[in-house]
Amino acid sequence: MKVDVLLGLQWGDEGKGKVVDVLTPRYDVVARFQGGPNAGHTLEFEGKKYVLRSIPSGIFQDGQTNIIGNGVVLDPILFRQEAEELLASGIDLRKVLKISKKAHLIMPTHRLLDAASEKAKGGAKIGTTGKGIGPTYTDKISRNGLRLGDALLPDWNDRYTAARNRHMATLASMGETPEITDIERQWLEAVEYLRSYEIVDSEHLVNKLLAEGKSILCEGAQGTLLDVDFGSYPFVTSSNTITAGACSGLGVAPNKIGEVFGIFKAYCTRVGSGPFPTELHDETGALIRNLGHEYGAVTGRERRCGWIDLVALRYAIMIDGVTQLIMMKSDVLDSFDEIKACVAYRINGVETHDFPFSLDGVEIEPVYVTLPGWKTDMTAMKSEDEFPPQFVDYINFLEKELATPITIVSIGPDREQTIMRKRK
Ligand code: GDP
Ligand code: IMO
Ligand code: MG
Repeated sequence: MKVDVLLGLQWGDEGKGKVVDVLTPRYDVVARFQGGPNAGHTLEFEGKKYVLRSIPSGIFQDGQTNIIGNGVVLDPILFRQEAEELLASGIDLRKVLKISKKAHLIMPTHRLLDAASEKAKGGAKIGTTGKGIGPTYTDKISRNGLRLGDALLPDWNDRYTAARNRHMATLASMGETPEITDIERQWLEAVEYLRSYEIVDSEHLVNKLLAEGKSILCEGAQGTLLDVDFGSYPFVTSSNTITAGACSGLGVAPNKIGEVFGIFKAYCTRVGSGPFPTELHDETGALIRNLGHEYGAVTGRERRCGWIDLVALRYAIMIDGVTQLIMMKSDVLDSFDEIKACVAYRINGVETHDFPFSLDGVEIEPVYVTLPGWKTDMTAMKSEDEFPPQFVDYINFLEKELATPITIVSIGPDREQTIMRKRK
């Protein structure tokens, strides 16, 4: 059995949560492999809406096993909140969720360090979600982190105290002397709460399930352009959001990867700072934001909006080894007279189709192709046979430019508003 991966090809918020939920019935297991509560994955069905942060989007279907892998960073307080809210809606996670012993813990001091680092950067700040993601992965890589499995060891208190003291000294050197007694107590209680979950050697579990013939869907967080190696560095997150991240974030060997679903919006958005070549600062950008409700699921921040960027998408498809594309939020463009797609960048007067070393500090002029809009409400459509011809042309154009088939098209936020295309 192979492991399929679904991941974002842009700057996050492509609609991963929605599609993972839709695809879950095809799988036995859904697993998160990186990121943490910086993610906000929205699911809508039967008139209800849920936003998941650390918990995989496979929990609402038929009792599939859901795994939080070693590559994820977990904030016990936020995890507890998320789990208790789900329990109040009748979903008992303990029956379906398993968490890796090797997942690193986000401490209250990591969040303070995140804020202090952003403050120190001033105008050059990343615009992080403020969830302590960067400092937690920094501790992991510098071999100072605390893992969930450490909370099961007899010297847990000493380990925690040493890490906390180290962070407090760093904060003091940055001129910050926060009072953390209350939040620390709340955090330690939440760690106790976490202990009541099934905490496992998830790499063994994942490989055992595979050997038993079970199928696994890996759910990416963020997007390829936020990858720490290949994204718009330094305006990125601190994990590998690409397909390879599923290997290191779950203990899956590269030769076990099967289908790679690359998901993108029919346009493009970004939250936080950093370069965005096709960003629209005009009324068209505002219209996309309003029609697409482009406000962050975690922070409520306005998302920056622009036209689809095929230079960046081709790059993401290459890095991720995408085998199938999923186009989201097509309905948001339903009323547009015309639609633009960036097919190349012009840098210093020279046209390039390659994603450059850095987008930052470089004057990039997008080269656009203009396509006619379809001017048709697609939100109630049930099959691709109903698609207006201009929309079919848009799909054909994208498939040709991206050299990859678009197999799923989303025409609204609800589970039901998902069209599976026939493979040619
Ligand atoms: P994720 O982080 O990739 O899971 O995406 P988010 O949940 O942060 O953002 C996607 C937003 O778009 C959510 O509010 C979804 O409910 C919504 N959404 C998903 N698919 C569609 C779609 O096809 N059309 C519209 N209009 N909204 C969608
Ligand atoms: P999902 O999974 C969109 C962005 C932040 C910031 C940068 C670094 O919902 O698609 P971090 O807190 O990770 O250190 O922030 O990354 N960012 C996201 N943008 N969707 C996300 O997740 C994001 N997670 C982080 O806005 O620019
Ligand atoms: Mg999101």
